[in-house]
Amino acid sequence: MSVLTAGSMSRLHTSRLAVTPAVVAHRGASGYRPEHTLDAYRTAIRMGADAIELDLVPTADGVLLARHENELSLTTDVAEHPGLAHLRTTKVVDGHAMTGWFSEDLTLAEVRTLAARERRPGLRPGNTVHDGREGVPTLDEVLTMVAAETVRRGRAVGLLLELKSSPYFDALDRSLDEPLLADLRRHGLDHARSRVTLMSFDTAILRRLAPRTKVPLVQLLDVGDPFDGPALDAIEEYADGIGVHQDLVLPRTADGALDLPTRLVRDAHRRWLDVYVWTLRAENHYLPTDFRVGEDPAGLGDLGGLAEAFLDAGVDGLITDHPDLAVRAVAAAA
Ligand code: G3P
Ligand code: CA
Repeated sequence: MSVLTAGSMSRLHTSRLAVTPAVVAHRGASGYRPEHTLDAYRTAIRMGADAIELDLVPTADGVLLARHENELSLTTDVAEHPGLAHLRTTKVVDGHAMTGWFSEDLTLAEVRTLAARERRPGLRPGNTVHDGREGVPTLDEVLTMVAAETVRRGRAVGLLLELKSSPYFDALDRSLDEPLLADLRRHGLDHARSRVTLMSFDTAILRRLAPRTKVPLVQLLDVGDPFDGPALDAIEEYADGIGVHQDLVLPRTADGALDLPTRLVRDAHRRWLDVYVWTLRAENHYLPTDFRVGEDPAGLGDLGGLAEAFLDAGVDGLITDHPDLAVRAVAAAA
């Protein structure tokens, strides 16, 4: 359980995960279904995932949607809607110029007209048979679905909610804090045992949320971010865990094979910070060279073996597009 210490920003820690190690389905079972659809989440739960991961962006009317980025054309059919053509524009988001249709410019009613589609049709052609079958879910709808699945299956399913592009939305005066907390409170989930965890690459929103919510907070770290002792000391003031690019735990050699572990897991655990790694993907294209099977980049390699290597390195959570394979690896390692 985590509580804020009176009069300070530090948190007292014990492990937050409902189970350790946890298998977290990245954008749902996105190796098998178009990402961030209710079908992708339900498929992950059916496969035995302990938790599902959602990315959150807002609509024009302040409703949180499950999308990886606020530009919608990569994962929906928005470009095929003549009635929305006038909303196509170019913006700079997180330092990158992007052209398309942005969630903050569409009302929820307009989002309701969109159909979700596979982001990587070249790598995951089998997933495209599901294109157009579902729309873009709101956070509220996902929370309702997860509550129903928890009852139906008789086991709790966790949620890792990532707040996307927070500085960008802050600058637009559309901060994600209030709609997020409102959704959590409406569903009775703003407490330490709700099995909801909040994540962000942005330190500022996590520091803002720390005194406002009881749910655990995870600082995301990408390649290039500092992860030494002083960096972890600072994170420990407001967060309960870290979610790190896999290379920060198990780097790759110059020829792309898996290298020896860094000291990150040990350093984090010494500060009572849980460690999640992202994103484990089964296609050869994403795997270290020594875990590939065959030459086809879209072919599936030895994700189970890679998961085992991360379990051996001591991580607390595996965030993966292929939760079935990670569930199997965790079971084998138990
Ligand atoms: O959950 C952390 C991981 O999802 C961060 O990367 O780009 O997939 O959101 P991304
Ligand atoms: Ca994410």
